[in-house]
Amino acid sequence: MTNAADFEAEQNALGRVWTFLCFTSDIPKTNDWLRTTLGGKSIFVQRFESGIRAFENRCAHRFFPLRKEEKGNGPVVCGFHHWRYNAEGLALGIPKCEEMFGKTPRELNARLPAVEIDICGTMVFGRFPGGNPVSLREWLGPGWDILGAMVGEPPPRNRIARTVGAHWKLLMEISLDDYHIVAVHPSTFGKDGYLSDKTIYYARFGAHSAYLPGGDAATLEQIRAACAENGFVPTRYRIFQFFPNLIVAFIRATTYLGETYWFALVQQLVPEAHDRTRSVTRFIPVPFKGDAPAWRRIARRHALPWISAGFGFYARKIHLEDNEACEELQKAVGLVDSDPHLAAQELRVRWFEEEYARFSGAGRATD
Ligand code: FES
Ligand SMILES: [Fe+2]
Repeated sequence: MTNAADFEAEQNALGRVWTFLCFTSDIPKTNDWLRTTLGGKSIFVQRFESGIRAFENRCAHRFFPLRKEEKGNGPVVCGFHHWRYNAEGLALGIPKCEEMFGKTPRELNARLPAVEIDICGTMVFGRFPGGNPVSLREWLGPGWDILGAMVGEPPPRNRIARTVGAHWKLLMEISLDDYHIVAVHPSTFGKDGYLSDKTIYYARFGAHSAYLPGGDAATLEQIRAACAENGFVPTRYRIFQFFPNLIVAFIRATTYLGETYWFALVQQLVPEAHDRTRSVTRFIPVPFKGDAPAWRRIARRHALPWISAGFGFYARKIHLEDNEACEELQKAVGLVDSDPHLAAQELRVRWFEEEYARFSGAGRATD
């Protein structure tokens, strides 16, 4: 968290772990692409006729960046000497290839390093090869059914993006900390915090964890089973943190005309430097289940933009409060020379540190 060399080593290791990259709806049309970061490297994710693929964002010829914008549409053609790549990342269109290289493009066999891709519902995950070969489904565990059933396509307007001057781990850990609510969010969560319910239950599954207020050891499996049958209706706040960089919460927005509106909030942390993280949050209305009379469906359609705007206002405020706390913590990371005193409501911070030590090969678990 204090220097570029350690950050590079950490990212190199974590790039081999399944990491949330984007939504399928971010690249809806053939040849749509977006640029992001994985394992400390610039990559681009593109939809081809044959499906979604991702590659390192550097030409195999002389390493010119293939994608210079955040997103766009078009075939993979390098701007430096016009090498053109196919959906397998193989350079098949090489100007004057035989004259310049004495070979055909097939013989030259120049390729872009590929990112392995898998998709859960609307969510695209990727990893570089060379890590634990576990499938995405195994990696997510019960999260596979939950994310697949409960996270839809985010409306473009429901987006909060900010660059935060802090290591990504601080942003993850503040989301795992239910002890800071009263001090950091006094006006949004109220004086009691959202933990006035005394039955705190934390679930740990694989490298991930969840806060399930009012729950017990059976709750996670109940939610998973309901999701698998597509019958899950949220009735309480739930938050799931997927290692390394994904936070998914189900949050009650408001009750209006006798109906309760819920959102799935999806926060993605993109590590950019040891002291800089891009935080991108989307929030997606959870669809109502069952039939409803026409007037109700019309009322919902009219209410939703206003409810989304109100929800976005509070979500932005809470993010900003957390981000400011993380930026303060970042100022102190170089001074730390002892283990923290973790409270019962910070149990999941310890779990996370244990997983971090396991997968990054850099940290060490606090005890
Ligand atoms: S660097 Fe890409 S074609 Fe030369
Ligand atoms: Fe917070």
